[in-house]
Amino acid sequence: MPLDIIIGTQWGDEGKGRVVDLLAAQADAVARYSGGDNAGHTVTVGEKIFKLHLIPSGIVHPHTLAYIGNGVVVNPATLLSEIEQLQQAGVAVHPERLSISYAAHLITAGHLALDRAQEAARGAAKIGTTLRGIGPTYTDKVARRGLRMELMRDEKRFTPALREHFETVNQTLQKLYQAEPLEVNPLIDQYLGYAQSIKPFINDVSAQLSEALAKGKRVLAEGAQGTLLDLDHGTYPFVTSSYPTAPGALLGLGLGAACVDRVIGVTKAFQTRVGAGPFPTEVFDQTAEHLRGSGANPWDEFGTTTGRPRRIGWLDLVLLRYAIRVNGVSEIALTKLDILSGLQEVKLCIAYQANDQSYPIPPFGPTQLESYTPVYKTLPGWNEPIRSCRRWEDLPLNARQYIREIETAVQVPVRRISVGPERGDVIELS
Ligand code: GDP
Ligand code: IMO
Ligand code: MG
Repeated sequence: MPLDIIIGTQWGDEGKGRVVDLLAAQADAVARYSGGDNAGHTVTVGEKIFKLHLIPSGIVHPHTLAYIGNGVVVNPATLLSEIEQLQQAGVAVHPERLSISYAAHLITAGHLALDRAQEAARGAAKIGTTLRGIGPTYTDKVARRGLRMELMRDEKRFTPALREHFETVNQTLQKLYQAEPLEVNPLIDQYLGYAQSIKPFINDVSAQLSEALAKGKRVLAEGAQGTLLDLDHGTYPFVTSSYPTAPGALLGLGLGAACVDRVIGVTKAFQTRVGAGPFPTEVFDQTAEHLRGSGANPWDEFGTTTGRPRRIGWLDLVLLRYAIRVNGVSEIALTKLDILSGLQEVKLCIAYQANDQSYPIPPFGPTQLESYTPVYKTLPGWNEPIRSCRRWEDLPLNARQYIREIETAVQVPVRRISVGPERGDVIELS
């Protein structure tokens, strides 16, 4: 029963969409299990660039089935516009191809308003959320007052549930944040309208996937965000409100642990972060500009969802070791190696230091990261562009040494090296 879980080992945007697209060629189904449209996953196929926020990236392959699991939070407006955009690009999306779990939670205009109000109230201490209503939706879920997708199938239950939800949101907006209330009646009509279009997609995803796995179908669990944004295992409180780590796939799809085959850790060849929070290996000099790019290329480091410039740093092997531990990563897919070309030297953070002590992984994981100094190993860079490399031997010697250093430091093999954004820009290693 082969389930492959694809997770980001950093702070998101590692190139998960690109790696899912690679693996989906050999898979029967692809499933999103956590987060919502805070994600932005890019798939490049020739001239076409797909930017997916909610629907699994694997849908771009015509043979795959797509699933949105119970762990996901769904903004119906985003869902419908994404379905339309995909259809316009020639990708078939219909209820026989896409199922959404009845137990996934709905993001409403109320959650969006609360996300905005909460971020404004945090002032200088803001998290830098994507303002997609993610935190408030998961808050309602945990508080057992959320709106599940199943309600969309039953107007008699959905209407009063919507009214109660928007009225509660209004009380919070007015009393806690002195913000304008939302107009409830038009919103109820709007969400009842969404329900008409979305109803046919609602299904029992846990049962569907279990059946597929029992028949030996290969399923990919497509992680969103990254390990260091995990609610429990990330750089709390600068995290998202869900579980992007590998165990989140089982919880968020309704599957047992026995079906897991591989856990593939997607790791960018350098480190990026968008939003606030600690970042020990962050750099601000010309190297940062080189790695970020000017924004002229689609792969430059500006947020897919928000357009914000991403913060840049050297690859942090301390945090990578930690990510490997909490996810049980069995192999690494290394992305954006091509972007390192042209640097005279490249650095890897191999340990953290504090009070004359060196740590391969600090005690208490990624907490109080500001109290550590990163210890770097400096390696010679390479000048050659590497996008056309297809075999290990094609890579410049210094690039190969860089990869070997990573493998030695974290004790997990690199099985795929992405050297460009397009489907074929990859070196597969056995
Ligand atoms: P995700 O959120 O993890 O799916 O990553 P994003 O799509 O947000 O960001 C990754 C960006 O890097 C996208 O623009 C990808 O097309 C691009 N990308 C992925 N792998 C590579 C690579 O190996 N080289 C280059 N140049 N771009 C890549
Ligand atoms: P993908 O799937 C990068 C970050 C936000 C913010 C924090 C909390 O494309 O890798 P939220 O809106 O989730 O409450 O914001 O998490 N964040 C991401 N950063 N990639 C993502 O998704 C992200 N999803 C959320 O920037 O710091
Ligand atoms: Mg992204």
